[in-house]
Amino acid sequence: MKRIAIFGSTGSIGRQALEVIAAFPDRFSAGLLLAGSNAPLLQEQIGRFLPETAGLAFPPAGYARPAVARFLQGPDALEQACELDGYDAALVAVVGVAGLRAVCRLLERGIPVLLANKEALVAGGELVMGLARRTGTPLLPVDSEHSAIFQCLQARGNNAPAKLVLTASGGPFRGLSRQELARVTPDQALRHPNWSMGRKITVDSASMMNKALEVIEAAHLFSMPPERIQVVVHRESIVHSAVEFADGALLAQLGLADMRLPIAYAMSYPERLPLPGRRLDLTALNGLHFERPDEEAFPAVRLGHEALRLGGVAPAALNGANERCVELFLAGKLAFPDIAELAAAAMRRAAGVALTLENALAADAEARAYVQACAKPA
Ligand SMILES: NC(=O)c1ccc[n+]([C@@H]2O[C@H](COP(=O)([O-])OP(=O)(O)OC[C@H]3O[C@@H](n4cnc5c(N)ncnc54)[C@H](OP(=O)(O)O)[C@@H]3O)[C@@H](O)[C@H]2O)c1
Repeated sequence: MKRIAIFGSTGSIGRQALEVIAAFPDRFSAGLLLAGSNAPLLQEQIGRFLPETAGLAFPPAGYARPAVARFLQGPDALEQACELDGYDAALVAVVGVAGLRAVCRLLERGIPVLLANKEALVAGGELVMGLARRTGTPLLPVDSEHSAIFQCLQARGNNAPAKLVLTASGGPFRGLSRQELARVTPDQALRHPNWSMGRKITVDSASMMNKALEVIEAAHLFSMPPERIQVVVHRESIVHSAVEFADGALLAQLGLADMRLPIAYAMSYPERLPLPGRRLDLTALNGLHFERPDEEAFPAVRLGHEALRLGGVAPAALNGANERCVELFLAGKLAFPDIAELAAAAMRRAAGVALTLENALAADAEARAYVQACAKPA
């Protein structure tokens, strides 16, 4: 029985992880459930999964402590949870840079991390990977593209990959021009054609900033230089990513768009579980399409490569600026194209500062403040 701690249990990834746990009750249990502010859903999850520990970072006024052996409450609930024992792996599925300190601490303590929170690797890539290596602690990708690459790499033998191909759905605005993108609304950005995800990552998909963050994530996870990571738009979201080898062989992982597969693979690695659900029927497909991203309309897509070349805290600044831009866009206070523009400017301002945890968090805060100061009303 593997006891999983779920950081972000009320979110899109957290809820799907609990579906996997519910489907394999003799394999997994939820040792710890931690959420932000969704008290009713956390309560329901506690009643169903009976964790030893639960926590809520931002409880509503008058919130009554639930019936669990240990309850963590307050903005530092995430950090407190990292200090506990009683679970065998932590699925880090909180959104945003809030995950960075937690991921570092878990790795320092030798607790295997199942990583959905890409922002931690974006903001602190070398730190996170350095800790995983130094402590010999597993860090398994949950992001579907990185899980796909990780799965393909199981067949590598002694061969180093030559190139990584990250696929992107293109989001709800694929095909729109820069002028048309200036008029899109938050509601439109939140309507993803293929995936049902949290609000922040859904906007990142629409701007294609998600792919920039994933390029940085892939570079760190798989020690790949940016020039050997290619982004390809694939609107069907069937090919989840691919790896090219020296002889030209391209290995890809295919499947229906369902995050339960990469979540379950990270939870049970190296074993594959008999997941319930639909299977991909190749004969039912109407073709698979691939094209280059439109970098003119979606300039965010190339910012991951630039951030990696700038190095230091530039990726942390890109990430922090983007997080603030997304908040402002969703609040109707920023035009959609300004997300990429302000994030790029914040990233370039941060160039030249070496990466430490404190520097990354300072660059994150500074980038947010810069966006706030520059943002013009939408
Ligand atoms: N969704 C996907 O399909 C998908 C795919 C690939 C990668 N990812 C990555 O996975 C991460 C989570 O994405 P998501 O779509 O699941 O996001 P989400 O639906 O917005 O969920 C975020 C979760 O984090 C919790 N949370 C936020 N701040 C917290 C804090 N300070 N302390 C404790 N809990 C906190 C939220 O709690 P409340 O809701 O209770 O406030 C919620 O449970 C992101 O980094 C995203 O990029 C997601």
